[in-house]
Amino acid sequence: MEVVILKNAECVASTAADLVAELLNNRPSAVLGLATGSTQLALYRQLVNRHLNAGLSFSQVSSFNLDEYLGVAPDNPQSYRSYMNREFFDRIDIDKRNTFLPLCAGNENPHLVGLRYEQEILNAGGIDLQLMGIGGNGHIGFNEPSSSLRSRTRVKTLTKQTLKDNSRLFSKHEFQPKLAVTMGIATIMDADRILLLATGGSKAEAVARMVEGPVSAMCPASALQLHERVTILLDEDAAAQLRNRDYYRWTYQQNESLKDRFGV
Ligand code: GLP
Repeated sequence: MEVVILKNAECVASTAADLVAELLNNRPSAVLGLATGSTQLALYRQLVNRHLNAGLSFSQVSSFNLDEYLGVAPDNPQSYRSYMNREFFDRIDIDKRNTFLPLCAGNENPHLVGLRYEQEILNAGGIDLQLMGIGGNGHIGFNEPSSSLRSRTRVKTLTKQTLKDNSRLFSKHEFQPKLAVTMGIATIMDADRILLLATGGSKAEAVARMVEGPVSAMCPASALQLHERVTILLDEDAAAQLRNRDYYRWTYQQNESLKDRFGV
């Protein structure tokens, strides 16, 4: 795991945007895995800005989101489809026909939705770069603690903690979905590269369990320890409970100078 500790949340977003831009420069038709949540907003703002002011194009990109609420129609403002359109897709030149979420509204069978989503990812050639955040309880996507480490796209029931953490996004009388269709942990692990962003002290414990704890279904993000190419971008607050903080800083300096010398 490459753990990168940066000064603040803005630096996390701009470093992530640099990595996305680098990928798209080398591979304009890249397949991106995308995420929702508050942490990603600063990254989307950066990418929109680069699209508007620096010619970064998404016209050939396709995308697959990690998750979507079960039974929530795409035009519901609380759907993740609405979030993605509002915060990102409507502001860039991506062809929305190439943007996918595991949508399961109406009477669709979620099991079939999961199978179809897996197939759609395969048909696109797999995910080149998966962006994501982390839940306060260590979830990735909506893979809550106890999710199988070999899981594929399916329905998950959200935990009380996740419902509480996300309740800030719903008004008092608004319906808050308790079920979601999410890529599984094995689906996420199939991505070529993973970029996880975490900012703020409320993520510090989950980050420490993900990076330095045992690999365990009780902390789904810890499965990323088994992935070959993971970069974890943290601000100081999210990094606060890491025991090896100084080592990660030192390693990052070494890696940057290796990059300068060898361009890798
Ligand atoms: C949600 C999403 C996750 C996201 C997490 C953290 O539950 N399903 O993909 O990583 O919450 O969100 P935030 O960035 O708002 O803390």
